[in-house]
Amino acid sequence: MSTKRTYAIIGGTAGIGRALAHKLVERGDYVLIGGRSPDRLESTLASLGPAATGCRVDIADRASVSDFLADSPALSGLFTPAASYQTGAFRDGDTETSEALFIAKFWSQYWAVHAALAHLRSDASIVLMAGAASIRPIGAPAYAACNSALEGLARGLALELSPIRVNCLSPGTTDSDLWRNRAEDIREPAYAAWRTLCLAQRPATVEEQAHAALFLLDNTNMTGNTLFCDGGYTLR
Ligand SMILES: NC(=O)c1ccc[n+]([C@@H]2O[C@H](COP(=O)([O-])OP(=O)(O)OC[C@H]3O[C@@H](n4cnc5c(N)ncnc54)[C@H](OP(=O)(O)O)[C@@H]3O)[C@@H](O)[C@H]2O)c1
Repeated sequence: MSTKRTYAIIGGTAGIGRALAHKLVERGDYVLIGGRSPDRLESTLASLGPAATGCRVDIADRASVSDFLADSPALSGLFTPAASYQTGAFRDGDTETSEALFIAKFWSQYWAVHAALAHLRSDASIVLMAGAASIRPIGAPAYAACNSALEGLARGLALELSPIRVNCLSPGTTDSDLWRNRAEDIREPAYAAWRTLCLAQRPATVEEQAHAALFLLDNTNMTGNTLFCDGGYTLR
């Protein structure tokens, strides 16, 4: 009998999710990956090789996530780094950067876990994606609250879904495609500020974040927890 495991990564076609997909395939597991862009999906599947399958998915659309998982083999794990949102100030009173942000990052992961339930093995592990702004915000209070809510969700789900384990990854600023696709005059000042704000004095790499996600997937004594892979940002 094959001992290979299958992990689903919604948001596995770039950044932290793609880095995790590579780690899983390199150690001999299978991955099911998805994202919205067909070009990104195609190129990522090509780089991962035959142990990877995937299709287009929009995590903010419950029917799309159900379709994505429909033919999935039993899953040993689920990682949900997919999210597209904007952040803004409370005083702006803007719906897009407050309520829509929750729909894009919190409710999408909530319902993705729900859709995955029928496909998860009883010993499966779920890793939700939050962010270190949860406990040390830099403005954007709705974004801070959304990440805190996700950390609370991991605790609540860990209780209800046991023996399935549920944890949360809360990264600090990470040199992913998310930042690389932004204009240099936005990215470089943000990176410069980050160097002064954290103890590591640099943004994290996607490999470091993927390593943290892999730890949460693998360690069978971790559940209901949040791992801050943030270079010491939340300490200062
Ligand atoms: N990078 C950081 O500094 C940082 C810090 C703290 C927290 N985070 C959190 O980490 C997560 C992603 O990080 P990342 O840096 O790896 O981002 P990234 O490099 O932009 O990768 C995001 C991945 O998710 C997919 N995606 C985005 N929206 C989607 C949607 N609605 N449905 C399905 N797939 C979607 C993207 O592909 P498509 O665009 O083709 O769909 C891509 O595969 C976010 O939740 C973010 O808040 C990141």
